[in-house]
Amino acid sequence: MKITHISAECYPIAKVGGLADVVGALPKYQKSSKITSQVIMPFYDNKFTSSNEFKTIYESKLKLGSKDFSFRVLEFKKNALDFDVFLIDVPDLLFKEYVYSSDDTNRFLAFQIATLDWILTWKKKPSIIHCHDHHTGLIPFMLQEAHNFKSLNKIPTVLTIHNAQYQGWFAHDKINLIPKFDLNNIGLLDWNNQINPLAAAIKCAWAVTTVSPSYMEELKQNANGLESLLQHESKKCNGILNGIDTSVWNPETDEFIIKNYKNRTLNSGRLANKKWLCETFNLDFEKPLFAFIGRLVYEKGTDLLPEVLEIALKNKNISVLVLGSGNEDTQNKLKTLISKHKNYYYAFIGYDEKLSHIIYAGADFLLMPSRVEPCGLNQMYALRYGTIPIVRNIGGLKDTVIDIDNNGFGIIHEEVEVNQILHAILRALNLYSSKTKFNKIRKEIMEIDHSWNVSANEYNKLYQSLLKK
Ligand code: ADP
Ligand code: GLC
Repeated sequence: MKITHISAECYPIAKVGGLADVVGALPKYQKSSKITSQVIMPFYDNKFTSSNEFKTIYESKLKLGSKDFSFRVLEFKKNALDFDVFLIDVPDLLFKEYVYSSDDTNRFLAFQIATLDWILTWKKKPSIIHCHDHHTGLIPFMLQEAHNFKSLNKIPTVLTIHNAQYQGWFAHDKINLIPKFDLNNIGLLDWNNQINPLAAAIKCAWAVTTVSPSYMEELKQNANGLESLLQHESKKCNGILNGIDTSVWNPETDEFIIKNYKNRTLNSGRLANKKWLCETFNLDFEKPLFAFIGRLVYEKGTDLLPEVLEIALKNKNISVLVLGSGNEDTQNKLKTLISKHKNYYYAFIGYDEKLSHIIYAGADFLLMPSRVEPCGLNQMYALRYGTIPIVRNIGGLKDTVIDIDNNGFGIIHEEVEVNQILHAILRALNLYSSKTKFNKIRKEIMEIDHSWNVSANEYNKLYQSLLKK
């Protein structure tokens, strides 16, 4: 069986968030004597692509409306990853320093068309085409409907929804960019009078998955406008919890962190990492260290962080470190707090992979007050490194964290509300002061198995069932 994943992100080649981690890990865990798993993604202009060597394996031209664009397919000269990756280079559109921006409609359409043009030439076609999020959402439609790609329409397609907030909408006046199809079927592309790639994928893919079971259920009530569609298609929908790549996220071998550790050496290892964080960012080492890592966007609840932290920091009994970027207003408010709470608080505005690993290894608690969290990987990384998660009871957070009052190991709040988050912080402080319990939980959570093994198998079972159809 040959599984072809198509995605805008894949770690370590290009990462904005969890999508990259998933697409960079799942293929490793799917591989077996009977399965090959590969990734097709865009070729961006970034540090990774400039420091690796690639060779061209295919060259052609694609049509976007009336315009022609040349493209190449690249592969590594020496593959640094555990699975095959093919990069689609459309120099005029995709080769940029960013992954996402305002011209994404044209960029990702070109990516999808080039990908299918190239697959048409393969001798051994994919057994399954697995698309991730709206950037690849027109593929199931094009395979089913576009005249050029009809010969591929027997290949089963899977759509995984990592985040239904983003749907890739564009206006009908761009319809000519989509390869020719029978206009009687235009309804498959439409949702609320717009072309909606995510909706089109939900309608046309053979199977739809979300990245946690709870998120699947939540989407039927709240999916940024797609609720009724998901209810209607519920028979082919399934929630499969993400895993984590334990070869990358392992405190025993992690090359990013200051001191490696395992369960037995948790205390000394974590102290060394905390010490480094506190020295580097001028934080009080004696206090419990609360951290946030992530995109500063409404779904993550980060608009409330400045107010929460302002109040929480008043008593000077905690230290706080924030790593993230996004909404400008939130960034500014988080930066303003730095001078007010010297020695107890720092906000690193930006993206820093190494620093994120050290935070998982050194912070005592990780805050995730998400309004929407399809899965969330941060809490699973935190658990693996012995950091106690403080999460809102939603989506994948609900499926992976059990509250300490329920014989669990994390702290859960129901709503995204300043007082509830503050109350959760108070409960965390309480736990921190019961040193024996606190240390016992840290050791226990390191042992929870969230590796991809179980979930990769779930995907394989899904593919098998599609191949039987
Ligand atoms: P999402 O995909 O919604 O952003 P996830 O929890 O699934 O959320 O995954 C986020 C991933 O991105 C994690 O690997 C996290 O460590 C990483 N990450 C997010 N923001 C940053 C940042 N500013 N610097 C470094 N890593 C980050
Ligand atoms: C999305 C979601 C996040 C999930 C990630 C990987 O970005 O916001 O919750 O963990 O995808 O599936």
